[in-house]
Formats: sequence, structure tokens, C-alpha cells
Amino acid sequence: MVTTDILSSSHRKQKNDFSCGKLLLDNYLKTQAGQDIKRKLSACFVSIDPETRLIQGYYTLSNNSIPLELVPEGYKNQLPDSYHAIPTTLLGRLAIDERFKGRGIGKMLLIDALSRSYKISKSIGSFAVVVDPLDEEAESFYTKYGFILLPDSHKMFLAMKTIEKLFEEK
Ligand SMILES: CC(C)(COP(=O)(O)OP(=O)(O)OC[C@H]1O[C@@H](n2cnc3c(N)ncnc32)[C@H](O)[C@@H]1OP(=O)(O)O)[C@@H](O)C(=O)NCCC(=O)NCCS
Repeated sequence: MVTTDILSSSHRKQKNDFSCGKLLLDNYLKTQAGQDIKRKLSACFVSIDPETRLIQGYYTLSNNSIPLELVPEGYKNQLPDSYHAIPTTLLGRLAIDERFKGRGIGKMLLIDALSRSYKISKSIGSFAVVVDPLDEEAESFYTKYGFILLPDSHKMFLAMKTIEKLFEEK
């Protein structure tokens, strides 16, 4: 398993070494993630390689909502019509450094993000985890883990009820 830490000023040097192959995601970590944390816009979690101390990967989480009409048909009937915006958790970004790809770290970080989102949903309601995949490669990664495309949107959705089944105590 990976362990994740909240991104802090102690990661300043490692941040600059991060390279996942997608400039947008590299630059976000290097220049914006810290600002977003200060402004309370999102939280950013990093996993550190115990040997090299490099950042293996990171992800971001924030509160979010989606319009009721975007909720997939099979789930919409569970929701009262009076809810126009459905509370969700946004897994905004997830990226693995090229040096650590293909070792299961993306999967472990995704599980860490889903577990964290599920725990928080017990205190602050959240109907689903939503992701906003950058491209088809990312979309195919999330599809593998059960995320479904929302109608008329590039966003993808995994119901918290489904996530609960992964983490509920046996
Ligand atoms: C997509 C990404 C997060 C995957 O991370 P990774 O650490 O290389 O993936 P893992 O080694 O954990 O792979 C776990 C499983 O997913 C599969 N997988 C990896 N990338 C995949 C993709 N793009 N599409 C489908 N499956 C994928 C692996 O084959 C593996 O399958 P297995 O368990 O059946 O063997 C990583 O390639 C990345 O950071 N890409 C660039 C940034 C990006 O697109 N982020 C996502 C959206 S913002």
C-alpha cells in the first residue's frame, strides 16, 4: 500500500522534480496546488517513494456538485426532485510520475482517494465521486475501476454506495 501526506512546503524541492508526461498536471503540482490549498479550494495528497524521496504521485479532492439532470438514470430515481444540485466529491487530478508508472501506484492512490472520500461522506454528505478525465487514456483508466460517463459531459461518476461496498466493515 502507499501512504499519502498532505502536500506542504516540505515538498517544495520534490515538487519541481515531478513529471507525469502531462504538462498541465505537472504544472498544477508545481505552481498551483499550494495556492489552492491555502485558498481552501482543494486538498492535495502526495505519496513519497521511501528510497528516493521522490513524489510518486498525487491527487486532489474538493467538494463539488452536479446538476440532478446529469445523474445517470439508474441513480436518479433514488433522489428527491427538490434536490437540484447533488453533492459529490471531485477527484480533480490524479497523476503518477513516469518513473513510477505501471507499478500499481495509480490504483493504490485511486483507492486511497476513494477511501478518504467515503470516510468524509459519513460526516458531509456526498452522493458520488466525480472525475474529470483529461483525455481518453485517463478515461479508460477510470472506466476500468467502474466510473461511468455522465450524460452530455466529459465527467465520470462512481456512486458512493458502490464505494461503500469496497470499504464497509465485514
Ligand atoms: C493513468 C495513470 C494514473 C495510471 O497510473 P499507473 O500507476 O501507471 O497505473 P497502475 O500501475 O496502478 O495500473 C493499475 C491498473 O490499471 C491499468 N491501467 C493503467 N493505465 C491505464 C489506462 N490509461 N487505461 C486503462 N487501464 C490502465 C494497468 O494496466 C493496471 O491493470 P491491472 O491491475 O489489471 O494490471 C498514470 O498513467 C498517469 O498518471 N497518467 C497521466 C495523468 C493522467 O492521465 N491522470 C488521470 C486523469 S487526471
